[in-house]
Amino acid sequence: MAKVQVFNHPLVQHKLSILRDENTGIKSFRELVEEITMLMTYEVTRDFPTQAIDIQTPVATARAQIIFGKKVAIVPILRAGLGMVNGILKLIPAARVGHIGLYRDEETLRPVEYFCKLPNDINEREVIVVDPMLATGGSAAAAIGFLKDRGIPHIKFMCLIAAPEGIAAVHEDHPDVDIYTAAVDSHLDEKGYIIPGLGDAGDRLFGTK
Ligand code: URA
Repeated sequence: MAKVQVFNHPLVQHKLSILRDENTGIKSFRELVEEITMLMTYEVTRDFPTQAIDIQTPVATARAQIIFGKKVAIVPILRAGLGMVNGILKLIPAARVGHIGLYRDEETLRPVEYFCKLPNDINEREVIVVDPMLATGGSAAAAIGFLKDRGIPHIKFMCLIAAPEGIAAVHEDHPDVDIYTAAVDSHLDEKGYIIPGLGDAGDRLFGTK
């Protein structure tokens, strides 16, 4: 079974507390989403292999480590996932970005893909799917499923707040996908909001209601 990694680091928790606060305005909200994502990227990339190379410093030759052969693609689930993209790009500037958009069919209640544009070589890349809120897990599990259908072998999922229901749903469908989150909250309410959560991440990122 894949792992769930919760980021208990004081900096992440401090920033997440401000993010949750209903009095936090849009500018700070966007900055905090980016900053928390950046801090989490540090751990998400921990298993990337390194390679020793020789470099010349001003005073000597050094045997130094660089990341070996890992190419990354970020896939935000539209639309709230967009808020996390720059946090990863700040640390992995050459990463490619794909996009996937889903809506829920009113009759079947199943997620349907309405948009998907991915880098051509995505199958050779380590893919990080991002969405700030892992609520029911329906969208995340479906998005990961649609990516796997295209033959993508290595997928990680990164969110800021997860509900236990969402973690269970993703693990049920995708036991091979590691989940990285800054917090696991209590439960979902009857409308599917994470409690205590932070409200609607997309609305808070884009100033909609
Ligand atoms: N999506 C959100 O933006 N917030 C929630 O609480 C649940 C899903």
